[in-house]
Amino acid sequence: MNLTSIDDLTPSLFQEIISLSDRFIEVSSRPIPKVPVLRGKTLATVFYENSTRTRLSFEAAAKRLSCDTLTFNLTTSSTSKGESLQDTIQTLDAMGIDFLVIRHPLAGVARLASGWTNASVINAGDGCDEHPTQALIDCITLIQISNQLSDYDPDCQGSDWPYLKNLHIGIVGDIVHSRVARSNVRAFTRLGAKVTLVGPPTLLPSDASSWPVDITYDLDEVISQFDVVYALRFQKERIVQSLIPSLDEYIRYWGISSDRLDAMKPHCKIMHPGPINRGVELSSQAADCEKSVILRQVNNSVPVRMAVLAALSGVYVHDD
Ligand code: CP
Repeated sequence: MNLTSIDDLTPSLFQEIISLSDRFIEVSSRPIPKVPVLRGKTLATVFYENSTRTRLSFEAAAKRLSCDTLTFNLTTSSTSKGESLQDTIQTLDAMGIDFLVIRHPLAGVARLASGWTNASVINAGDGCDEHPTQALIDCITLIQISNQLSDYDPDCQGSDWPYLKNLHIGIVGDIVHSRVARSNVRAFTRLGAKVTLVGPPTLLPSDASSWPVDITYDLDEVISQFDVVYALRFQKERIVQSLIPSLDEYIRYWGISSDRLDAMKPHCKIMHPGPINRGVELSSQAADCEKSVILRQVNNSVPVRMAVLAALSGVYVHDD
């Protein structure tokens, strides 16, 4: 079974990952946070773009499940001799891997790779398309903190589906280049949240009007309505200069400054997938204030990825 998109998750598999995450949060708190769930299995991380959080947390998750790990290093690999992506994946497949965790600058590569290997393929970010495990981490984090969000209806927790009902989440910034935004819109709305996208018109996807979201360009008009402000990284490496007049103007209209902290609801939380451009999408004051749950997102990344690996491996049974 693969995880290339949030849409790959059936309702029961989504539920299973949520409940397994709780189990692996408990495992991660033990003095020796290791269980033999995936003993004898091998996971390869194949990243054609840089990463700190995703790669290291997948490798930590695998090790905590007693799964062996292989790390493909782009700069020292035979890619530099011209080896194709297909040959690289087929070579790893021939070595007998069980999980392929892949990040690539081109959208659709994870799905393509799944045709070249029998391993479970997990999309660790494909261009501007999706980053489904980041979205799962964010959902678990929101479920954990939902009792701190005053508009949240506790009766929803434990029900089959609308864990995030009554939450209004503002996803702010460079949405067009954000695979995190695409996966999170799918995941948050499946869990019942209301989502509003906020950013400059040139950094909103041209098809966003068909997404199940509200859209606005004016952050100051809506910021006081949000229970969660999800700030996105300003993706300098993908933004051509003509998309915004200047970085200063971007910060002025869409950066989370101290004035905007004051405009938020008292209980509003701030999230960000990392890495942060401090002083651009988030001021340091916003990143480090008590509203911020950014390090909690990171803290959840290992147990949630443990849950993903266990669920995809079929170690735990699901119904559909
Ligand atoms: N959130 C995220 O994907 O971070 P990395 O690029 O560090 O993996």
